[in-house]
Amino acid sequence: MGEYEKIFRASVEDPEAFWLRAADAIDWYVSPTTAIDSSNPPFYRWFSDGELNVAHNALDRHVDAGRGDQAALIYDSPVTGTKRTYTYRQLRDEVATFAGVLHGLGVGKGDRVVIYMPMVPEAAIAMLACARIGAVHSVVFGGFAPKELAIRIDDAAPSVIVSASCGIEGKRIIEYKPLLDKAIELSEHKPGKRVILARPQAEAAMGEDDIDWAEAMAAATPVDPVPVKSTDPLYVLYTSGTTGKPKGVVRDNGGYAVALNWTMPNVYAVGAGEAMFTASDVGWVVGHSYIVYGPLLAGATTVLYEGKPVGTPDAGQFWRVIAEHGIKSMFTAPTAFRAIKKEDPKGEHLADYNLSKLEYLYLAGERLDPETYRWASDLLSIPVIDHWWQTETGWPIVANPAGIELLPIKPGSPTKPLPGWDVQVVDADGRPVEAGTDGAIVVKLPMPPGSLPTLWNDDERFVESYLSAFPGRYLTGDGGHLDADGYLFVMGRTDDVINVAGHRLSTGTMEEVLATHPAVAECAVIGVADKLKGQIPRGFVVLKAGVDADEEAITAELVQMVRDQVGAVAALRDVAIVAALPKTRSGKILRKTMRSIADGREEPVPSTIDDASVLDSLRPVLRRS
Ligand code: COA
Ligand code: AMP
Repeated sequence: MGEYEKIFRASVEDPEAFWLRAADAIDWYVSPTTAIDSSNPPFYRWFSDGELNVAHNALDRHVDAGRGDQAALIYDSPVTGTKRTYTYRQLRDEVATFAGVLHGLGVGKGDRVVIYMPMVPEAAIAMLACARIGAVHSVVFGGFAPKELAIRIDDAAPSVIVSASCGIEGKRIIEYKPLLDKAIELSEHKPGKRVILARPQAEAAMGEDDIDWAEAMAAATPVDPVPVKSTDPLYVLYTSGTTGKPKGVVRDNGGYAVALNWTMPNVYAVGAGEAMFTASDVGWVVGHSYIVYGPLLAGATTVLYEGKPVGTPDAGQFWRVIAEHGIKSMFTAPTAFRAIKKEDPKGEHLADYNLSKLEYLYLAGERLDPETYRWASDLLSIPVIDHWWQTETGWPIVANPAGIELLPIKPGSPTKPLPGWDVQVVDADGRPVEAGTDGAIVVKLPMPPGSLPTLWNDDERFVESYLSAFPGRYLTGDGGHLDADGYLFVMGRTDDVINVAGHRLSTGTMEEVLATHPAVAECAVIGVADKLKGQIPRGFVVLKAGVDADEEAITAELVQMVRDQVGAVAALRDVAIVAALPKTRSGKILRKTMRSIADGREEPVPSTIDDASVLDSLRPVLRRS
């Protein structure tokens, strides 16, 4: 039996012992005596009698252990021409001081702080400062528009918001402050103060509730970490669900710290003193787990990169970062590699850099198509590791456990379940299907530590969304199959969530926006395959009878509405006006059928279709022929 097999078996045969052992690698104020608390199913809690502080574990303990002068975080920003290294001591001090700022503003244990920031080190500092004082951060991705930010502000009800004067998107400066002001105007909940980081690229108009980051830091007194319960929330991260209302995924302190710390050597093969580069954004779960918390918990060096894979200024930037900072493991989304491949198909930029320290490339966030896998793996001549996970799970469910044992790679599969994850593929009745047969991918409860214990303020929605379809199992929302060797193949979402350039978005949210246009009678948005971004949204609208307007003008308005109300990141550029939408007899729009035709597959049309001629006339539009 291989090492992976042994460890996996240990985790399922005796999860209690397995995770208590993993918990030993964390500093606790009160050590947990039990791993899993199953007293209130389907709500499971981890290390419930333990107390710790995640910021202490990510910073102070490494300084205490003699790593104070080691690089903790390297800010590498080609868009501003800045490189700045924070040692563990410097990062701890900045975090302690910003924790003092928050404390001075009255933020205490359990209070929420919304962080709406670009990829600057202050975003990570603000997150860790919240952790230090037991406050709950909620980072909102900078590419979301004011309305989406307002929805999150209303749900999280923060006492303070931390933001910046601007972000830099390629060559464009995006002023954040007007977006924040607009969001606060739209939200019902009015947060108290906002701390604004002034960046030289844009000046923010400061109001009476706005505090300048630098001035606040200069006046603050650093504070020490406070003990929190393992089960207290560390953060809420909103993610797209099937409806317009995002889901507030809750992350606890103890389970998350233990799980992430476990993954660093075992999955990412990164230990203390080694360097990891995760090219994502702190607004996404990948950024939370593997730009900020994971590498720092492990005493490693993390890179916070403000730039794109291409165009800032060229397709060689990832190689430059890897070479300059001695990166051992890199993590990004497949779409970033597709973007590099498009720009530099032969990988000529690589010749300028020495990548000898790079041992592994990890890709996640969307399906890794075999073509991109082969291109990356031929180019870099290192193992390219596809791994599958979600905002909800906080860390990978299925991965090649490179730090334990590199299993043979099968292109198109993220390999096998990691310890703690009992992954099954089931049919519509919840019965496990045979190897090779597609079905819904579910995970047997309880899920391992670090996965979501619930949704923010909404236990009911948590149960309804994830646990009610197949009792005793968590519904991942992804479909796929296991092969005879136990490798999982994830084929795509079975709901209305789409993945655009590795960004998780809801077609339901876009439909809600389109439906508010006065000329629109009904609409559908579907995600269709795209060579660069994996998927892109396409909209189809039926106009109200008697509307006599220029169709081009209406579609341009619709595209702009989604950009203004959801954000540029939604990337809805293609809206078609059609005579009717295909429906079932009970009136449900046949989105799945539309998607399969648009993707060039001809799946059988459901027998419940109301009027097949509607679909026939839509076919050329869907296929764009
Ligand atoms: N703030 C404001 N706007 C943002 C933004 C942010 N943080 N992030 C993206 N946007 C904007 C982009 O500028 C773009 O605007 P445009 O329509 O005016 O051009 C729009 O949102 C769409 O962005 P994106 O889908 O990222 O497309 P892109 O063409 O700018 O870049 C890639 C394509 C592949 C280079 C880019 O998506 C990428 O680097 N992806 C990496 C994936 C990733 O980090 N995933 C996170 C999970 S691992
Ligand atoms: P997010 O919550 O943003 O991390 O998005 C999670 C979703 O992205 C998953 O439910 C999948 O649909 C998709 N996804 C993430 N990683 C992979 C992968 N390695 N292969 C296929 N799909 C993936």
